[in-house]
Amino acid sequence: MKIGSLDLGSRAILAPMAEVTDAPFRQICRENGAGLTFTQMISAKGVVENAFDTLRVLAFNRSEKPIGIQLLGRDADYIEKAVQEIKTLKPDLIDLNCGCSVSNVCKYGLGAAILDDPLLLGKLVKTLVKAAEGIPVSIKIRLGRNRQKINVLENARIIEDNGASFITIHARTRSDSYMDNPLWEWIAKVKQTVAIPVVGNGSLFNEVDCFKMIQETGCDSVFLARGALGNPFIFKRLSTLLETGLLQESESVDEVAKVALHHLDLLIKDSGEDQGVKKSRKHLIWYFRSFNGVHSLIEKIFSLNDRSSLEDFICSHVENIKNDSYPKENFEEINKKFSERVLFWIIDSKLKEEDKQ
Ligand SMILES: Cc1cc2nc3c(=O)[nH]c(=O)nc-3n(C[C@H](O)[C@H](O)[C@H](O)COP(=O)(O)O)c2cc1C
Repeated sequence: MKIGSLDLGSRAILAPMAEVTDAPFRQICRENGAGLTFTQMISAKGVVENAFDTLRVLAFNRSEKPIGIQLLGRDADYIEKAVQEIKTLKPDLIDLNCGCSVSNVCKYGLGAAILDDPLLLGKLVKTLVKAAEGIPVSIKIRLGRNRQKINVLENARIIEDNGASFITIHARTRSDSYMDNPLWEWIAKVKQTVAIPVVGNGSLFNEVDCFKMIQETGCDSVFLARGALGNPFIFKRLSTLLETGLLQESESVDEVAKVALHHLDLLIKDSGEDQGVKKSRKHLIWYFRSFNGVHSLIEKIFSLNDRSSLEDFICSHVENIKNDSYPKENFEEINKKFSERVLFWIIDSKLKEEDKQ
């Protein structure tokens, strides 16, 4: 897909994910064939006010390019000022998040709440495009407020008319949960409505899903979110399928472990041993969730606090998998839980406990 003068060379893009798409994960996805990656959503107000936590997640390395920065905001002044700051970092793209449906975001009128107000949406896109002075702008949207109030075609036209370079459609509405099937047919309708590139998003867990979405909707590229967790291989697998029509063999446990340990190394380089080890846990569970023994891994991993014990454990885990030492897992149930909630091992009672603290 081409964005202005930038040719991505791949139709698979890593979607922004809070607490996930940090520099180490972005690098892993680029090394495995992602054409473009994004920071997680970044508060425009936080950028303008120099909030330390915001600036930390905004940082990226030149070697990561092409990279997009995703902004969260609904105030045109903040957005304009935030873009002035961001421009100095020379990102390849600036995206506006009009897709986040989390109540803590929508209650402030941010994210998917903007979709209810097409006039405001148009004003924000216009402001962003003008302030970006030539840096391409994209907008990530959902279908509308709920399945009775789908206004994605109107919003897509407004986004195009105000100068955005492409639109990403997460084919669910704001009220939908991950358990609701995405309505890909709306991606096809948007594609017929606007001339700018359209990127499709929603429940793409393997390269065949991506291929089907491209075939069925005509979308120019796909945005991968949950499908890339513990599975950065999906990017290359899709390129191979599109180029040759062939499906690759599944990665062996050794291949998965090699990338997982490289990811751990990058996290430690980025955040230090203590934080790097902590941040690696969810990724390691995702990497090994398709192999027997994932429940043993989950039981053990939270007690390992240093690099060498974690690496030793992963190596013995891999040997146990290869020796078929673990009982069979119910992968259908694991996949169902994962698609409902990516942190599927955290039970509701523990979440409620954490909420109280
Ligand atoms: C852990 C997590 C964090 C997310 N954070 C963001 C975010 O910062 N910005 C955004 O636009 N979407 C965010 N999303 C939504 C995804 O980008 C994507 O639109 C959604 O998961 C649907 O794609 P999927 O069905 O392939 O997972 C997040 C999703 C997950 C699972």
